[in-house]
Amino acid sequence: MHNTRKIDSSLTYIGASDRRLALFESIYPIERGVSYNSYLLNDEKTVLLDTVDPSVSRQFFDNLKYALGGRDLDYMVIHHMEPDHCSMIEDVVMRYPNVKIIANQKIVQMIKQFFDFDVDSRAVVVKDGESISFGEHTLTFVFAPMVHWPEVMVSYDSKSKTLFSADAFGTFGALSGNLFSDEYDFEREWLDDARRYYINIVGKYGLQVTNLLKKASALDIERICPLHGPVWRDKEAISWFIDKHIKWAGYESEKKGVIIIYGSIYGNTASAAAILGTKLSERGVRDIHTYDVSVTDRSILVSECFKYSAIVFMSSTYNLEIFTNMQDLIIDLKEHLFQNRDVALVENGTWALQSGKKMGELFAQMKNIRIINDLISIKSSVKEKDIGELEALSDKIAELVL
Ligand code: FEO
Repeated sequence: MHNTRKIDSSLTYIGASDRRLALFESIYPIERGVSYNSYLLNDEKTVLLDTVDPSVSRQFFDNLKYALGGRDLDYMVIHHMEPDHCSMIEDVVMRYPNVKIIANQKIVQMIKQFFDFDVDSRAVVVKDGESISFGEHTLTFVFAPMVHWPEVMVSYDSKSKTLFSADAFGTFGALSGNLFSDEYDFEREWLDDARRYYINIVGKYGLQVTNLLKKASALDIERICPLHGPVWRDKEAISWFIDKHIKWAGYESEKKGVIIIYGSIYGNTASAAAILGTKLSERGVRDIHTYDVSVTDRSILVSECFKYSAIVFMSSTYNLEIFTNMQDLIIDLKEHLFQNRDVALVENGTWALQSGKKMGELFAQMKNIRIINDLISIKSSVKEKDIGELEALSDKIAELVL
């Protein structure tokens, strides 16, 4: 049975949500699920904008059939070839054999890599900046390489002032029936997942996202239709969300505040983290967030590190290295081009302490990471001399974040 939502008289939402998938891209936990967005434009021609993940294919085809209202499908626009959006291309072709595929050259190449059907005979290949009219609506295609794959393009409908933004401006989270961001309390319900989605999925490509944001700023955008999450139609909300992306893409923190992340084997490093939190609180710091690196999912920690201005990494030594989960986190941050932050380091170990030195070496490979303390080395458990050093670190952090 169909389950669609009208966006305007000619544009219909025909995507669907999945709450059963545990790990998006087999990495990221998505307790709130995820939506796979697809749109149908009914003009003089009918135009499908992207397909969906196989998990919601049945709903998608019911929706497409209903939204077409008995018409044939003339065009399918492919903005992005990651399988969460492209998987149904061949099935669409089988059901609607007259459909032409609008794509750029790289996308055509990837369709051939993923599928075996005859693509060339139905491909309409567009260049960067090219426009195609479908009646009252004209789509202009703008290439957005590495947001999030190299073939990605977005499109802009000048009549409805809609940006079909591919993965950009998307978020984890299933839709509840409400489709538009203004139908939710987005900041409360969605922002953390939007940040986690952006940082983990495209965080590495800040430069490319900034380029897309520059191109977008030249357009009069009244609506954004992304491939995941709510549709944006409120101009004030759109500029608020674009502002968030400018910060994220520029690797700037959103808030002055401190995160303490610890890797503790028997609780002694955890104890140091708790003491540091108390010392910070005594100095009036309120934005303090403490995480056990072995408990909280890494995608959340990466996202939180991008959100706040100061981060304390406290790690046991393990196999003469950084505690494994902490090492994985710091490498993940490096791979996401983590930069421009105040960082403090605390190590622990019973013999041959190494984690502080090794953490320092990793952070030295990142851009503009300011190590704000002399390494605090705890031997086995926190002693009075460590308290003094944690007090001094609290003074420094308080000075930076208050
Ligand atoms: Fe939602 Fe890059 O795919």
